[in-house]
Amino acid sequence: MKWICSVSLAVSLSIQPTFADALFAPHALTPEARDIFVTRLLKKMTLDEKIGQLRLISVGPDTPKSAIRDMIQHGQIGAIFNTVTRSDIRVMQDQVMQLSRLKIPLFFAYDVVHGQRTVFPIPLALASSWDLDAVAQVGRISAYEAADDGLNMTWAPMVDVSREPRWGRISEGFGEDAWLTAEMGRTMVEAMQGKSPADRYSVMTSVKHFALYGAVEGGRDYNSVDMSPQRMFQDYLSPYKASLDAGSGGVMVALNAINGVPATANSWLLKDLLRNDWKFKGITISDHGAIKELIKHGVASDPRDAVRIALKSGVDMSMSDEFYSRYLPELVKNYEVSEQEIDDATRHVLNVKYDMGLFNDPYSHLGPQRSDPPDTNAESRLHRAEARDVARKSIVLLKNRLETLPLKKSGTIALIGPLADSQRDIMGSWSAAGVAKQSITLLQGMKDATAGKATVLFAKGANVTDNTGIQNFLNLYEKSVDIDPRPAQQLLHEAVATAKKADVIVAAVGEAQGMAHEASSRSDLTLPPSQTMLLKALKATGKPLVIVLMNGRPLSLVKEDQYADALLETWFSGTEGGHAIADVLFGDYNPSARLPVSFPRSVGQIPIYYNHLPTGRPYDFRQPNKYTSHYYDAANGPLYPFGYGLSYTTFKVSPVSLSAKTMAHNGRINASVTVTNTGKRAGATVVQLYLHDKVASMSRPVKELKGFKRIMLNVGESQTVTFPIKVEALMFWNAQMRQVAEPGQFDVMIGLDSARTQDAGFTYQ
Ligand code: BGC
Repeated sequence: MKWICSVSLAVSLSIQPTFADALFAPHALTPEARDIFVTRLLKKMTLDEKIGQLRLISVGPDTPKSAIRDMIQHGQIGAIFNTVTRSDIRVMQDQVMQLSRLKIPLFFAYDVVHGQRTVFPIPLALASSWDLDAVAQVGRISAYEAADDGLNMTWAPMVDVSREPRWGRISEGFGEDAWLTAEMGRTMVEAMQGKSPADRYSVMTSVKHFALYGAVEGGRDYNSVDMSPQRMFQDYLSPYKASLDAGSGGVMVALNAINGVPATANSWLLKDLLRNDWKFKGITISDHGAIKELIKHGVASDPRDAVRIALKSGVDMSMSDEFYSRYLPELVKNYEVSEQEIDDATRHVLNVKYDMGLFNDPYSHLGPQRSDPPDTNAESRLHRAEARDVARKSIVLLKNRLETLPLKKSGTIALIGPLADSQRDIMGSWSAAGVAKQSITLLQGMKDATAGKATVLFAKGANVTDNTGIQNFLNLYEKSVDIDPRPAQQLLHEAVATAKKADVIVAAVGEAQGMAHEASSRSDLTLPPSQTMLLKALKATGKPLVIVLMNGRPLSLVKEDQYADALLETWFSGTEGGHAIADVLFGDYNPSARLPVSFPRSVGQIPIYYNHLPTGRPYDFRQPNKYTSHYYDAANGPLYPFGYGLSYTTFKVSPVSLSAKTMAHNGRINASVTVTNTGKRAGATVVQLYLHDKVASMSRPVKELKGFKRIMLNVGESQTVTFPIKVEALMFWNAQMRQVAEPGQFDVMIGLDSARTQDAGFTYQ
């Protein structure tokens, strides 16, 4: 692989700079050596220098480079974020080494959420692959490219479980399920940190947003969260824990309140749970400006009070917030914050710097100036083949009537839609140092795939939205949406005329990337009216209609599902998205992805998630009864269930066979199915294991994911998949908040989605 070759090349180029103070030079990256080293260093530091280490500064208009230089000289900065070139980073590290008293290296961080230079599909799409090898590859390459740019830390992975499609940030996470999210988070951390975050091509991760940010009320960003402890521990906290158990050095604290106490002021969360119960030794970092927000949360009277509360609650480092340096000295002088508390927070910062290897070599992720790459836009260093492969694996086929797909590479194809040729949108939000001009649009991808064989006609057909309020919102800070000034009717007319010339229509519709982002909550999950009108007009042509969706959240697609002959969920698929989608459209890749989140029929169904609790009056569509739990104006389930996705081939799942009918106390049994490819093409599928505790001291979810396996089968081939079921899979947090596995009957459900399964049962003794 290209990145492995580049690793050895760059290593051979790097020169180990000498770290000035030999007394400080640590020798081994062990926890014991780290403790000794950090203790000695702390003894040399003044109070102001310690407080300086707790400050994380973003280079920008408020803090220009000259101000940063000054602060570095006086030991007033611990780390920098939002700077991503080696030359800029080197200048600042040089200033530390040349101007500051103790020469404590800075670390450099950035939001590397789904790639650094090469943009991979958004995390929700990565989760759709259910492919941990692919996710590991994304993690390794992202870390490689980030470290190559001189970075030491990333604000990722985002493991906020979310059942809230209205929330724009659902795009940054791995969906609605704790098990799947935990697997993804763990894999990302292991891949990005590698053997050690100190390695030349690893970065330290910072798991976010701790905690429960994905459960903001009404899906409105920054809103509060109110949740029972059982639900918290059962359904939301395990992905953070799994990512920390995998060794993540950082934790970013959430902006929301939990049961009335903002996470930034929550000593139960940051001390009792994180430090005492989970034994976390790394750093906690506030989210952007979160400390002063404690005033608006109504738990701090003024900035000084906010600083006192945040530090005492366990927030080590303050992101983009001038208040720590302004008020901590005085708070210590007045004995409102103890020196010990400052020492503890500083120790955590120094610990991670030690783990990043910065005390051995402050330039470890930089190398010498002469090794800086000449192509600043990184074109020659992109991992295009890997990005294309991962993107194909994350595309979900939702509908395929009469085998509309795959398309033939012949005749005339009309590609219509506002997202068909948008380089910016296909990258998704948080696309780090990715350059829109380098991304492949669907138009480009289809032209490349059909060159010399078929004709691809293109018309935009509609703007992504005609609502000027929303257009202005999307273009508020950057010009991210191009609005075609022609009247809507004219765009529509052109699209219909183009469609009429073709044998088949491909419509690329969905959301602009800015619609699924931070601060981008929606109260309506349908496509904007400009696009539904377009689809209606295209449908009216009578030509086969393939709808290609690009979006960052589950949408309600009842109409689209009716209109479409084939429907493909491609999310925001990254730098190589256009090629990857074309691979799927033309059958060069057989789709294998599965939804990591339920798709509601309407916004009114939310929350709708597969692992809900039973009710005393469950609705049964085979015997509808008025006094059961349902809406009278909508079908009860989601439009597409969790775990769902089609293939160009078909699979058959055998009945479940269990290794025993009873599981001994603390024992284990195996559950197996045989899956056969009964169709006409080779293809991959995801076999999913769900469990249900039938009678327990508390109601237990109707089903919960407890295992999955992605398998590849040739035509006619069968494979037996065996899931070991251990007692941990039966455990839950009971009314007394103890984690228990209660004896009794359990249902075992295995299938290729959460709705259609083969079922068996066993008794736990
Ligand atoms: C977001 C974080 C992000 C930080 C730094 C905040 O607004 O909530 O997720 O890491 O900015 O960019």
